[in-house]
Formats: sequence, structure tokens, C-alpha cells
Amino acid sequence: MDIVVAPNPILRQVCEPCDVGDKSLKKLAKEMAKTMYKNEGVGLAAPQVGVLKRMFVADCDFESGKKNPIAFINPEIIASRGETVVDGEGCLSCPGITVPIARPAEVTVRYFDLDGNECEMEAEGLWARCIQHELDHLDGKTLFESAAPMDRLQALQDYDVALAAGARPGETSVKVR
Ligand code: NI
Repeated sequence: MDIVVAPNPILRQVCEPCDVGDKSLKKLAKEMAKTMYKNEGVGLAAPQVGVLKRMFVADCDFESGKKNPIAFINPEIIASRGETVVDGEGCLSCPGITVPIARPAEVTVRYFDLDGNECEMEAEGLWARCIQHELDHLDGKTLFESAAPMDRLQALQDYDVALAAGARPGETSVKVR
């Protein structure tokens, strides 16, 4: 699948809920996971492949050494805890840049799996950050919209430079300076 890259207006749309019983979601999730791994991402949201549905795939578990993507259908953050942490984030749809984003350290996400079961995950660390990032995509927000105002200006400048330098999805820094 091709990755939609900012500033494509597709990325600014608010996505529609999925029909939880929709069998085509399994195929979509499989294709999205393949695309995510190929581009060395830890998460990929449906609008990033041009599908305006509320679902994303993610895999932030590196310790097992195995690929174990999780599909989050109609995800919702139902609780957040801990302090707000600022860390640099990259995005397959904003190649070539890393942007500092403030997010709660821990979240609880409720979602449906591909078999239509309602699930909950308590996430911290990279999982918490990834889930919040991907959920932003479903609400039409990219790194630029999630960043603090000054960081956004810097990010937009960096992004112009990165695009001009030919940044590809999966790259989080383009050495141009
Ligand atoms: Ni992203």
C-alpha cells in the first residue's frame, strides 16, 4: 500500500467508525501491517493508506523479536494517567522529521479486535505514545497539529527542507543542516 504523505488533505479528515463485523477489516489490517513493517513504523492508521475509517495497527513490542501486530478497531482512550511527557515523534506520513509532542505517560484504550471482541489495553511507554499518535490520525491530526505552537513552526520549516531533500516514509531525520 502507498502511504499518504502530508500535506495531503486526506490526513486532515475525521474518520468514520468501522462496522465492527466487517470482514474486509481483516484484509485491510493485514495489508496495513505489511506496509507498516516494510516502512519500519510502529503504528499505521487507516487514513495513512487513504482509508477514512477508525482503525489502526501497531506493534511496539520489540523484545519478543516476533511480529505481532495488533489491530485497534474503533479505538477510544477511556483514561489517561501519569505525568505529561514530551518526546520526539516521527510519522510515516511526515517523513524526514522528528517533532516533540507532549502526551500523558499512560493510557487505557478500549477497542474492538478483528473478531469483533471488545478489548481494553493499559499502555505505557512507547505503546501509550503510539496509541495516542495513531488516534490523532483518526481525528485528522498529524504531528503538526499535535505539536505546541512554536514546535509546529519549527516542524513545518524542517518538513519543507526534508521534502526538498527527498525524505521517504520511515525516515525520521534528514541530514541537511
Ligand atoms: Ni503518524
